Amino acid sequence: HSIEEGNFQWSAPSNIALVKYWGKKDNQIPANPSVSFTLNNCKTITKLAFTKKNTSTALNIKDDFSFDLLFEGQPKEDFKPKIQKFLERIEIYLPFLKDYHFTIDTENTFPHSSGIASSASGMAALAMNLMSLEKALNPGMTKEYFYQKASLLARLGSGSACRSVKGQVVVWGNHANISGSSDLFGVEFPNAIHANFKNFQDTILLVDKGEKQVSSTIGHDLMHNHPFAERRFAQAHENLDQLISIFESGNLDEFIKIVEREALTLHAMMMTSMPYFILMKPNTLEIINAIWKFRNETTIPVCFTLDAGANVHVLYPENVAEKVLQFIQHELVGYCQNGQYICDEIGNGAVLL
Ligand code: PMV
Repeated sequence: HSIEEGNFQWSAPSNIALVKYWGKKDNQIPANPSVSFTLNNCKTITKLAFTKKNTSTALNIKDDFSFDLLFEGQPKEDFKPKIQKFLERIEIYLPFLKDYHFTIDTENTFPHSSGIASSASGMAALAMNLMSLEKALNPGMTKEYFYQKASLLARLGSGSACRSVKGQVVVWGNHANISGSSDLFGVEFPNAIHANFKNFQDTILLVDKGEKQVSSTIGHDLMHNHPFAERRFAQAHENLDQLISIFESGNLDEFIKIVEREALTLHAMMMTSMPYFILMKPNTLEIINAIWKFRNETTIPVCFTLDAGANVHVLYPENVAEKVLQFIQHELVGYCQNGQYICDEIGNGAVLL
């Protein structure tokens, strides 16, 4: 098959980990399995236009990747090295990459520099587009192969991105009791999930929109030689085991214990690495304490989780949404930068537009 030109457009959502990925081996192989809720509203939308290079006019034109990058319609030079590195890493899986010139036109549905990482949704959206071209060149692949390979490619862009291809609950990393789980790509959690998690809500409180002082790449690296690493990796397996039962039983009290402990453990790893660092801000702690107080007083099953930053994800079932949103508006908005927060919920993964 030969295709001269065309374009695809995919959206891919962000995701929020319940059991955290923190620490990796070579080739973006996770040190422990993780599980996340795929989000619905926080998305990257990426259009990939491609034109076959004209090799008759320049002999060595095939030696390099060729692409333009647009962010919200404007050329974006500073994202290019990351994309270049991504293309280098995935070339062995997509040997046609150097045959084309690409225009990658991308935008996010969440505010730019909100402290919400766009790498997961961004790399997932790009991987889906590249797989659409791969499928056009090699028709006949199964849908399962398509999604698995898309997730594998996304993983090579940014580890957690491999969990953004599918919904609603995605596992990445080998785990003895989750059939089909793999270090190479994310898979949909294979068992039925209790109705308590249906339309589960995630309200993201934007505490600090500044640039992180320590990138997640450096953070992952600091798990090498970390004094608590081996115990931490074993704990992630144990916590995932417990979540398997919790997804079946719908026990929200147990869910809360696992999820909050995972969030604090992630930050405890950062605080005890060498060099050590702290990504939480004073308002992160204010919010955590306010959530605990509210939960004690009301018994409403609301909890928090954190990723590698100061923002707080507030997680709760749909049937308490009204009360929790009132609480957020009355008690928590004051801790958010410019009072900003984003309402999201569990979603289904990447979509071809
Ligand atoms: O995908 P990365 O390399 O940006 O790592 C993200 C790690 C956490 O967000 C902190 C946890 C996770 O599992 O998503």
